[in-house]
Amino acid sequence: MTLVLGIETSCDETGAAVVENGRRILSNVVASQIDLHRQYGGVFPEIASRQHILTIVPVVQQAMRDAGVDWRDLDAIAVTYGPGLAGSLLVGVNVAKALAFAYNLPLVGVNHIEAHIYANWLVPTAPAPTDLGSAPERPAQTPAPAPEPQFPLVALIVSGGHTELLLMTDHSQFKRLGATIDDAAGEAFDKVARLLGLGFPGGPAIQQAASRGSAEAFQFPRAWLKGTYDFSFSGLKTAVLRTVRKYEARVGAPSTERKSKLVSSQTPPMMHQIPVPHLAASFQAAVVDVLVEKTRQAAEATKARQVLLAGGVAANALLRKEMTARLAPVPVLVPPPALCTDNAAPIASLGYFRFMRGERAGHDLDVNPNLRLGVAPTP
Ligand code: KG4
Ligand code: ZN
Repeated sequence: MTLVLGIETSCDETGAAVVENGRRILSNVVASQIDLHRQYGGVFPEIASRQHILTIVPVVQQAMRDAGVDWRDLDAIAVTYGPGLAGSLLVGVNVAKALAFAYNLPLVGVNHIEAHIYANWLVPTAPAPTDLGSAPERPAQTPAPAPEPQFPLVALIVSGGHTELLLMTDHSQFKRLGATIDDAAGEAFDKVARLLGLGFPGGPAIQQAASRGSAEAFQFPRAWLKGTYDFSFSGLKTAVLRTVRKYEARVGAPSTERKSKLVSSQTPPMMHQIPVPHLAASFQAAVVDVLVEKTRQAAEATKARQVLLAGGVAANALLRKEMTARLAPVPVLVPPPALCTDNAAPIASLGYFRFMRGERAGHDLDVNPNLRLGVAPTP
């Protein structure tokens, strides 16, 4: 039995988790900063790092307590060292280094994007991450481990900062098939949500509004970028903006008022005259259509045995449903929504596989805010 403590602070969630053999979650604690950043309509980097400073120690302590393990029981500490916000990453990396030094434990540096994929290695019926301060939800009985993902596989990673389509032939063996050439899928959700006067983060807000609208109400463009597996969402975002402007012109909102209201996270009064649910549903359908079709083509061309979804946008219900339906008979693995968004269990899982291959980071491990996939930890 190998126990790894994972630590995650790349953006606005402070996370710590203890995972057994890379698959079984013993504890998973997340302190979300969403409420702090909501007033800014996005993540405010300095506030994020200062908040990590406040919460990291209680989060790690709770993860150890919930798991019922002692420092002597651990085999390694895994930490996200990039990509992400430099000030946020620094908090997690320094705490991980201090703990590794104090308890004489090996340290493993983990790529945040790659770790998102490992949410698919975690046992699906594991308890959802617990918020800091709340009691852990214990499953009635230990769930039987699901079969491990099978290589070669195609992974679609869709988060607030990344949209990547990868072919994975083994652990750490990637071929990048395609990526976004402008906005990330989650970024598009967040920007369009703001445009429609919906809250932050945009993904869940769009999904909720879309449930009351029709996906056929507006025919928004799909950027197919033929002959590539790349994505583009900025044209779609502009199309939604143009449609909103047309409605505003019809209801006669003055342009200055329009501008200032559109950047606010509050619902502007004139938005009540705009069919927000229809716009949200039509936008969501356009994003999902392209993500699913490109993944389907990639899986077919590479003869992938499975398709794995990962990242915050993989929590989207329509994406999960359409991907499963349109990829059949190729099996699609989708982690539970709470494991799709940022948390430390996938960090511990990937850390386990790297640890078992003998990878170790030195005590001079540095953060790399622009870390790319396939780059070894330094030194
Ligand atoms: O992976 P994640 O938690 O953080 C990053 O590494 O970026 O992803 C956050 C992104 C945000 O853009 C958020 O709007 C999006 O995931 N998201 C969703 C949903 N839940 C979160 N997008 C669409 N539908 C959702 N249900
Ligand atoms: Zn993430």
